[in-house]
Amino acid sequence: MKDLEQFEIEQEWASYTPEQHSIWRTLFHRQEAILARRACQPFLDGLKALGVEAGGIPDFRRLNEALERATRWRIVAVPGLVPDDVFFEHLANRRFPSTCFIRRADQLDYLQEPDIFHDIFGHVPMLVNPIFADYMEAYGKGGLKALRLHNLEHLARLYWYTVEFGLIATPEGIRIYGSGIVSSKGESIYCLEDPKPNRIAFDLLRVMRTRYRIDDYQESYFVIDSFEQLFEATQPDFTPYYAELARLSDLDPGAVLTSDRFLEGNPA
Ligand code: PHE
Ligand code: FE
Repeated sequence: MKDLEQFEIEQEWASYTPEQHSIWRTLFHRQEAILARRACQPFLDGLKALGVEAGGIPDFRRLNEALERATRWRIVAVPGLVPDDVFFEHLANRRFPSTCFIRRADQLDYLQEPDIFHDIFGHVPMLVNPIFADYMEAYGKGGLKALRLHNLEHLARLYWYTVEFGLIATPEGIRIYGSGIVSSKGESIYCLEDPKPNRIAFDLLRVMRTRYRIDDYQESYFVIDSFEQLFEATQPDFTPYYAELARLSDLDPGAVLTSDRFLEGNPA
């Protein structure tokens, strides 16, 4: 295990410029309006509970007080993407690594790498939800195990299609919980309202077989019925699943199987 502290930095909240705070506010207001009837209720509740308001870039010290009180999670500041083992070790101990930099004003709509808006606005509200908070810890432990078993590629797809790009079915229609979607203006609308992408009922092995795109909107989204379902489906030991996955072929991001159960998108 690498030295965890080697990858920790100070947020240095006092050093953000007024322009940087204003970029946060712009992104926040845009997403708040778009997500009102598109994000799932736990996300909206989490956002409110954290007091991540339009005031500007949040100070991790204040955010951590609320988060620790809610679910005993904490944010740690990191310079960018950290090695897999470091990332999983943090999650396994209920610490979420977040970047500190914010995108430039000419990058409001799209950015290749995660910035503080994606990491905090996108991820942290769901960590206020007790079941999702436990799922993320379990995922971290599962990641350390997948590393030992050389199965990270399969497990990474689960993170991608749930934590980053997950959808949930509710009585009001399909709603978003994935952080990669909630932090993107275009994809928040596309994933629910565009007729193009597949919206497939969540199936653990199906998800772990499916490759993903990192350079465009997703061709397929996986829809859970509840966070309990997600948590329970991922409780069993994955060792036999990995053995089975070794025999199954990978699927293209847009693949369709006869066993897939499809969900209708929401009317625009
Ligand atoms: N149960 C999984 C395993 O044994 C760990 C895990 C939990 C993975 C939750 C993902 C999400 O490997
Ligand atoms: Fe992310």
